[in-house]
Amino acid sequence: MKLATALFLFSFLWNMQSGFSQTQIAIPDTLSGSNIELTMHTDSVQFLPGRKTKTLGFNQYSYLGPTLILQKGAQVSLMVQNQIGDTTNVHWHGLHVAPENDGGPHTMVMNGMDWNPQFTVMDKASTYWYHPHFHGKTAEQAIKGAVGFLIVRDSVEASLPIPKRYGVDDFPLVMQCAQLDSVNQFMPEGMEDSLLFVNGTRANNGGTAFLTIPAQVVRLRLLNGSGERTFNVGLSGNRAFKILASDGGFLSSPVSTARVRISPGERYQILVDASTLQGQQIQLMSYASELPMGVQGGPTMPMPAGSPPMDSPLNGIDFNILQLNVGAPTANPVLTIPTALTSVNRIEESLASTSRIIRFTADNDSVMDGPFYFNDSLFNMERIDYRIPLNSVEIWEIRNQTMVAHPFHIHLVQFNILDRDGNLPLPYERGWKDVVMIESQETVRLIARYETYADSMMPYMFHCHILMHEDDGMMGQFVVMPNVTTSIKHLSHNQQAMEVYPNPAGESVRLTLPSATYAKEQAYQIINSKGQLIDHQTLDRSNIISTTTLPTGLYSIRVLTETMIYMSKFIKQ
Ligand code: C2O
Ligand code: CU
Ligand code: CU
Repeated sequence: MKLATALFLFSFLWNMQSGFSQTQIAIPDTLSGSNIELTMHTDSVQFLPGRKTKTLGFNQYSYLGPTLILQKGAQVSLMVQNQIGDTTNVHWHGLHVAPENDGGPHTMVMNGMDWNPQFTVMDKASTYWYHPHFHGKTAEQAIKGAVGFLIVRDSVEASLPIPKRYGVDDFPLVMQCAQLDSVNQFMPEGMEDSLLFVNGTRANNGGTAFLTIPAQVVRLRLLNGSGERTFNVGLSGNRAFKILASDGGFLSSPVSTARVRISPGERYQILVDASTLQGQQIQLMSYASELPMGVQGGPTMPMPAGSPPMDSPLNGIDFNILQLNVGAPTANPVLTIPTALTSVNRIEESLASTSRIIRFTADNDSVMDGPFYFNDSLFNMERIDYRIPLNSVEIWEIRNQTMVAHPFHIHLVQFNILDRDGNLPLPYERGWKDVVMIESQETVRLIARYETYADSMMPYMFHCHILMHEDDGMMGQFVVMPNVTTSIKHLSHNQQAMEVYPNPAGESVRLTLPSATYAKEQAYQIINSKGQLIDHQTLDRSNIISTTTLPTGLYSIRVLTETMIYMSKFIKQ
């Protein structure tokens, strides 16, 4: 509270002195603990003179939401309330959670309803975020502002001598570019996205956003929350900075650089050493003139006749994102940057059991605005694209055969980038990632382990994080298949034992599920002693399964419902 007052006074005096409109950006309040409530609601904000802009926000905010601070290892219950007058949901981008807690498109929260995911935080300390994921409306709802930060802290971070005082020397910064129509309303499909916001404060077009930082080492958690634009972030005067962490965790050591490219959905944490700069200003910039053609925000490509306008005035130019005003240092400032952070145990290529190829495709070679496909097909909510055995390591080879770059995102996992066109990725791309930008005609190989949660019915998504591409169907889904050798003793909270009678079985068996209620959808699977799935069908209300055709032997049987897995074993005589 005191800090906020001081910052407000500072900003007021600054405005009086400089005579032009400068606004100190807001740092969202935090929510933490084991019970967190988030209410998504409609609102409006005076972003531009004239009509107010219709927005979505969480809790006390008209636009964006509070920052959730979660402790690794903690159990958390999130109560999400929908008050937006439309169906929505909330996805915890980057978190390793069970599919029913992930907030993908299969979770639909109707207006007036709530949703209560509960999970243990298993992720490494880093910056994650939350946003809606209701298929076909993700762009609209996210761009209207239903977005917030989610910060995970852990013991590794606690032991590092780095800035970690939220809002004091550790700042979350969400950069968003959007387009407003002639009556100041968001255009989720608009590609002339030249209005820039930082933490919801207008940062260009007549406004300048600033942040006062203390004269010491400060940590900036950068999130690109835009629908399509990529930022090529640097500091004015090509001042060097260090990259501390990528999407899902710390790098092994801070990487010194003058640029970090951040596409939609990506997060990078940087350390800026302002210890000798008290009283000065530095600009956080996007050096978009250096972006290659095909990357949204880079130089505008020559457009075929009839294409929608894509020529945002921000494309291909260098522009300021945020002014950093260096004020007095705090007590106990961090003044040095450690040389080593943590060990990044990259996944060994030799562990991979499967390799898949995903091609980004379009109807023809000149398509620049979509629709785009994975392997020539659009998203289909009824189709499972990949079934991945629990605990397996897979290599996904992504080939971009389109004219434009796409930020590719996978739910559930943090992956390592093996290579880009056969070459090692940039040093700051060698840690944990959940979004990777793939340029036109580029091939990138990713490796990930699919562990902890298995559910053969409820899928996870992979998709392009350009929101209009995603909504248009540049998305696919995978399930992680339960491991049949899981012993009944080690069942997780959504797995239970059931009874099979008679056992040994003759012509048929009857299953008795422990829960009295009949699930709407239930399927059974029979797995033989070699782990092969030999029968998979809908289970009807009789709960009786014919075993006539089974060879004699030992079998595992599972019943899958929307929320539970019931397991048992039986012998066929
Ligand atoms: Cu940030 Cu599936 O999304
Ligand atoms: Cu995600
Ligand atoms: Cu895309």
